[in-house]
Order: sequence, then C-alpha cells, then structure tokens
Amino acid sequence: MTITFIGHGYVGLVTAAVFADLGNTVYVIGHTKEKIESLKRGIVPIYEPGLEELVKKNVKAKRLIFTLDYSPSISKSDIVFIAVGTPTAKTGDADLSTVLEVAEKIGQNLKGYTVVATKSTVPAGTNKRIKRILEESKPQGAEVDYASVPEFLREGSAISDTTKPDRIVIGTESKRAKDLLIKLHKPINAPLVLTNFETAELIKYAANAFLALKISYANAIAKLSELLGADALRVLEGIGMDKRIGNMFLSPGPGYGGSCFPKDVRALISIAKDNDYPFSLLEEVENINHQSRRDIVRKARKTLGDMRNKKIGILGLAFKANTDDMRDAPAIDIINLLQNDGAKISAFDPKAMDTAAAVLKDIDYKKEAYEVAEGADLIIVLTEWNEFRELDFSIIKNKMKSPNIIDGRNLYDSKEMTKLGFTYQGVGR
Ligand code: UGA
Repeated sequence: MTITFIGHGYVGLVTAAVFADLGNTVYVIGHTKEKIESLKRGIVPIYEPGLEELVKKNVKAKRLIFTLDYSPSISKSDIVFIAVGTPTAKTGDADLSTVLEVAEKIGQNLKGYTVVATKSTVPAGTNKRIKRILEESKPQGAEVDYASVPEFLREGSAISDTTKPDRIVIGTESKRAKDLLIKLHKPINAPLVLTNFETAELIKYAANAFLALKISYANAIAKLSELLGADALRVLEGIGMDKRIGNMFLSPGPGYGGSCFPKDVRALISIAKDNDYPFSLLEEVENINHQSRRDIVRKARKTLGDMRNKKIGILGLAFKANTDDMRDAPAIDIINLLQNDGAKISAFDPKAMDTAAAVLKDIDYKKEAYEVAEGADLIIVLTEWNEFRELDFSIIKNKMKSPNIIDGRNLYDSKEMTKLGFTYQGVGR
C-alpha cells in the first residue's frame, strides 16, 4: 500500500518507519526544510532506541520518503494519517489549529479514493470537523472516507509498542475505510476495537487519564506510607498482584511528565467541563501530580535547611528514561524551585542535556554522573536511567561534601545506602 504521514514527531515518524518496514511505500510530510533534509539522510531529530536504524534502512530501500510537498504523495496514497501535535492551548483545551490546517491541505490534494485517518490525540467531536473540512476542500471526483486511529505508543519503547500493541482502535462510519485500515494493520496482528469516531477519540483520552490516575494514586499511597511508616513499594507490589489492579504504572516518583499525560488530563478536564460535567477526580489527579513534584523539593529543604548556595547535583533530567524529551519533565519544576531557594545546580543526563539547556538556565552540566557529586551537599535522582543503577556509591560518597541523597525514582536499596553512610530518602519509604 502507499500511505502518507503528516508530521514526523514520535507518533508520525515511528509509525511511518514501522509501516515502511512492513513493505509499504510511506511518504512523510513535514514543514521544516532542515528537518526534512536531515531525515532524508536518515538523521532522526529525536532520541528513540532503534529508530535511527529503522529510518536509515527504509530510506535506503526507498520505502520511506521524506518531503515538504503534499503533492504528489497525497494523490498517490491509499491512506493518509494526520500525526501532528495537539499542544495545550491557553484555555487548557487541545490546540487543534495545526490538525485543521493540514486537513484542508490534504483535502485539496485528494485524487481517486483515499482514507484519511487521525493519529493525533483530538477531543471527541473533532473528527467530525475534520471530515467536514475534507469534504468541503476536496476536488470534484475525489472520494474520501475518514477514520480515527489513535496511537498508544510510549516514548522509549515506541517501536515495540507499535509492532506489538495491546490493541488497534479504528473509529469510522465507513465499511470501505474500515476494511482498508484492517488490511494495513493485518501484519501487526493485534486485537481490533472497531467503533465510531467519538468512541475511538475518547478511548485515547480515557486510557491516558486512567494511567495518570494510577500514577497519582501510587504517589498518594507513597505519601501516606511515609506518614505511617509503611513501605509504599511493598504496598503497591501487594496491590498490583491483584490482577484486577495490575502491577504496571504504579511506580511512585516525582510525578508524571512528558508530552501526553499532563496535556491529555488537562484536555479531558476541559472537555468534561464544556459538557457540564466537572471531572473533579481528574482535577485531583493533577493536584497530586503537582504535590509529588513539590514533595521532592520539600525533602531537599528539610535536609539542607537554608538552601542558599548549597550545591545540589541532579541525576536525570528527561521526563523518563530512554528519551531526550524534556516536555513537562518534573525536573523543570523541581530545579526551578530549588534555584528560587538559592541552590546551585549541577546536572547529568545521558541524553537530555541539550534539550534541557533550552528550557533550564544556570545549570552546570556535567559530562558524567560521578561529576555531579563533586563537592555536593545533596544528590537528587529524577530519571530512572539504567546506568544510574550501576553507579559505585562509595566513589560518589567520597566526592560529596555531605552524603545526602533523595532518590526520586526508588532506584537504590535504602539499607545499603544507609550502610554506606548516606542519608537516604526514597519516595514512599
Ligand atoms: C504515554 C502513554 O503511556 C502511551 O500509551 C501514549 O500513547 C502516549 O502517552 C501518548 O499519548 O502519546 P509516554 O508519555 O511516552 O506515553 O510515557 P509513559 O511511559 O506513559 O510515562 C509518562 C510519565 O509517567 C513519565 O513521566 C513517567 O516517568 C511517569 N510514570 C510512569 C510514573 O511516574 N510511574 C509509573 O509507574 C509509570
């Protein structure tokens, strides 16, 4: 099949590369000349394990074609996917301007029969608007069907999430579109959820908000465990063994971040409000998330007292491991609060230091993890990079001014740390 993706962010680029690898001819349309030129050479603008190799392989095989032009890729395509961003607008709603703009450009370039499908996360009802735009802008004689095919991949494991998803959701009113989309997804071999636009759109928001809710629940249990002297990790392990609850997305930490959960929880609160339903449960999910970030700072203040000119080394800046993404990373809020208190910050992250430098000021970036310990009064771990698990803490202790550690991701054994002479605080322990 010939398909086109509009957008080469995580969703667009990964899904395009996977479909190309499955033997399809895949066009990817972007709007920045430099980025498209680099992608043509197989240079990927984001860090995602395995992605650069997959892109290079399929560019070389001429199955993956990057372009700035809607013509002729759209007219040649059986299916066109919209995979552009839907950031939060000032109102808290999803900003749909790019999605609607590209829908019009797609419409103008349609020829013959085409299925247009949205992968971008859009509030229920948007797909009907997109369908209308396509129908109004298409040339005479062109035929278009429309579908919502939300994406569930995670950054850091995006390729395996795309090749082995838990389910594929297809929302459309057209049998022809449904059959074509089923055919495209056939080699992926996952259970299908076939439904209407609105349901498909809401499945995406409801899934992200529920996962965010699980994390905030874990963070609330962690807080309560600290107050009661319980071990939150054991409590959460204990509840996660109940298959009805499940053990995933129950790790307490500095709160969820990234480009999806914070934005989608906010948008779902807004969508509910617009429909006269105050989704106060989700407002509390957000509140707990903010508190989880602040709680790391509260622990630092309690440990160091007057924070002015205290040296704090940060291990990990990205919103989670295996990505260089800093969007809504807990590290941003936490470091800003520590700096407001007058602390001096040094930091190391294996992949996210360049992206961090664009959003965080006055940080002494280090070349390796051990360097943040140099003369430090406190180390705070904010991202669960595997290489941080392997660090030799006797070396770290010797470099530090005072051996204090706040382990925001519960990477280390508290007893071993205490034995080494550290004042150790995890989350919920
Ligand atoms: C999330 C969803 O997991 C994907 O299914 C979805 O497709 C994607 O959003 C999207 O809407 O595009 P992602 O944001 O890449 O994926 O990352 P997650 O692995 O879900 O992590 C989100 C945040 O939650 C991170 O800050 C992570 O550290 C935090 N988290 C996750 C916890 O604090 N505890 C956990 O137990 C799990």
